[in-house]
Amino acid sequence: MINAIARKILVTIRPVSSLQARTPVVYPPAPLYSGSVSNLTAILERAAGDGLVVALTGAGISAESGIPTFRGEEGYWTVDSKVYRPQEMATNTAYRRMPEDVWQWYLYRRAVCREAAPNLAHAALVELDQLLGERFRLITQNVDGLHLRAGSPMERTYQIHGNIDYMRCGNDCTNELWPLPSDLQVPEDHLAAKEYRLSEADLALLRCPECGARSRPHVLWFDESYDEPLFRFESSLEAAAHAVVVIIVGTSAATTLPNHVVNLAARAGAGIIDINIDTNPFAEIADQLPTGIALRGAAGEHVPSVVKQLSEIVAG
Ligand code: OAD
Repeated sequence: MINAIARKILVTIRPVSSLQARTPVVYPPAPLYSGSVSNLTAILERAAGDGLVVALTGAGISAESGIPTFRGEEGYWTVDSKVYRPQEMATNTAYRRMPEDVWQWYLYRRAVCREAAPNLAHAALVELDQLLGERFRLITQNVDGLHLRAGSPMERTYQIHGNIDYMRCGNDCTNELWPLPSDLQVPEDHLAAKEYRLSEADLALLRCPECGARSRPHVLWFDESYDEPLFRFESSLEAAAHAVVVIIVGTSAATTLPNHVVNLAARAGAGIIDINIDTNPFAEIADQLPTGIALRGAAGEHVPSVVKQLSEIVAG
């Protein structure tokens, strides 16, 4: 089954209903539900046994840290679209055409991320990782690096859209990732970073340490595909297929792999918990499922309380 999905899947903005991916996906038969268990405790009790607990996060988990979301009122795709369309800037095509502008823009976004600090929701997911260890996976769409800075371990954190603190070869001579050079002169203050123009010295640092070609931000662009080495594509699907509970936090379900993750897990009978200040396609799925629940409210409020409740259940 996973191999059936392992064909290259483009990142798409969700033009079709979230349940029908562009690429045919083979889902397991729908599980037979024995009566409604859709209260939070009953769903969390599924996690008390064995099986995987998966958290799937989006920009909403970092909103309370002061990082704009993408499609919210002040979102990156909403505000800056007066200047450029996201499909334009966040693409390999744009990088080929205007690499310095693209670097400029990502280094400005990075300054925004570096000014932010992980919040209670990030911290609660670190606690959950410590509680469950190998029985936990964190799949994040966020490139802001806040989960790692909160203490989530790299090996169990699948950054499926990359990480803005890393660069790699612009010519793909290797899949190696390098932290951004610390000698870059981009101001830490994001407003100053937005106005700052990269110097020749900066551009000389943004080179592939292997082959010397221009480097690129380690983020997944709209005209690119998920894969395993760089974006943990198959690992994410594998985790979804073995999940007993999926905790979704702060995403509008706009991209492909998260849709596969939630649909695969739901089809495999997992309990689905959606935490979001607003409705979204995953909240609708959770509402429809007898083993699902949509908690409407802020991540900083709901994630710590869900984790506390889960910890009490697991501690027995
Ligand atoms: P979006 O901006 O599309 O959605 C953010 C979601 O978070 C919305 O559903 C909000 O209602 C919710 N939200 C906002 N504040 C919240 C809070 N305090 N607590 C809980 N929920 C809150 O961002 P994503 O869904 O993450 O991909 O976007 C997915 C991907 O699309 C991104 O990773 C990026 C973007 O294009 C790429 O660039 C490949």
